Amino acid sequence: MKLNPSVYIVGAGPGEPDLLTVKAQKLLMNADVIFFADSLVPSEILHLCRKDVEIIRTANKTLEDIVPLMIERVRSHKSVVRLHSGDPSLYSAIHEQMQLLAEAEVPFEVIPGISAFQAAAAKLKVELTVPGVVQSIILTRISGRTQVPTREELASLAAHQASLCLYLAARHVEDAQAKLTEHYPADTQVAICFRLGWHDEKIWVVPLKEMAECTHKEKLIRTTLYVISPALGEATARSRLYHPEHTHLFRPRK
Ligand SMILES: C[S@@+](CC[C@H](N)C(=O)[O-])C[C@H]1O[C@@H](n2cnc3c(N)ncnc32)[C@H](O)[C@@H]1O
Repeated sequence: MKLNPSVYIVGAGPGEPDLLTVKAQKLLMNADVIFFADSLVPSEILHLCRKDVEIIRTANKTLEDIVPLMIERVRSHKSVVRLHSGDPSLYSAIHEQMQLLAEAEVPFEVIPGISAFQAAAAKLKVELTVPGVVQSIILTRISGRTQVPTREELASLAAHQASLCLYLAARHVEDAQAKLTEHYPADTQVAICFRLGWHDEKIWVVPLKEMAECTHKEKLIRTTLYVISPALGEATARSRLYHPEHTHLFRPRK
């Protein structure tokens, strides 16, 4: 299958190659050039690619190095896949990439992927929106080199006591625990998810008061997602959707 000369910004999912979308897989199998950060996307994914594919590793490159290379390849009529971990819509720095591609009038497309929070919920076998318990999910991070705006400060988000999925936070875990504890009860369950979908994946479920201690004990500093949720401790609640007393268009009252 010959792809159009274009940049395809592809979500590679959290780790397991099987969690790619069918569209991502087709693009990987047919692309002329793949840009990929080795530290964030497992190299098994590259086994899908053509033998003659050009692979450009980006871990040691700046945006100023990467984008001109992409533009040059597309102008030479090549199809370019830019792989990002998880879903490209969060913490992927694609915004500035897309701006530069648009300015250069280079066509691009975004293909969604499974984000770490979805992989975590699946591994934990939990629904993050259990009726009567919690109905919202907050995806957020801790300020690092990128600052989180003050109005989105973690303690203010914790006040909702929603299912909160905390990215990019392992290096600042004491601060995170302190802010979360301002609103969540100290025995709220927290899933600490390390390298989901990779060969060395590990998950610990601990009370919030032990979140920082467990992180330090296990020496986690990278690729860790925290899921703080009242749903993690919930065994009994039930949705109305499949309830016998609930009728709807496709299941009218008998
Ligand atoms: C630069 S962000 C990219 C997030 C990605 N776009 C996503 O949708 O999952 C990297 C952070 O995402 C989380 N993350 C990404 N992949 C993960 C995985 N396989 N296991 C656990 N956390 C992961 C961690 O919090 C990590 O520090």
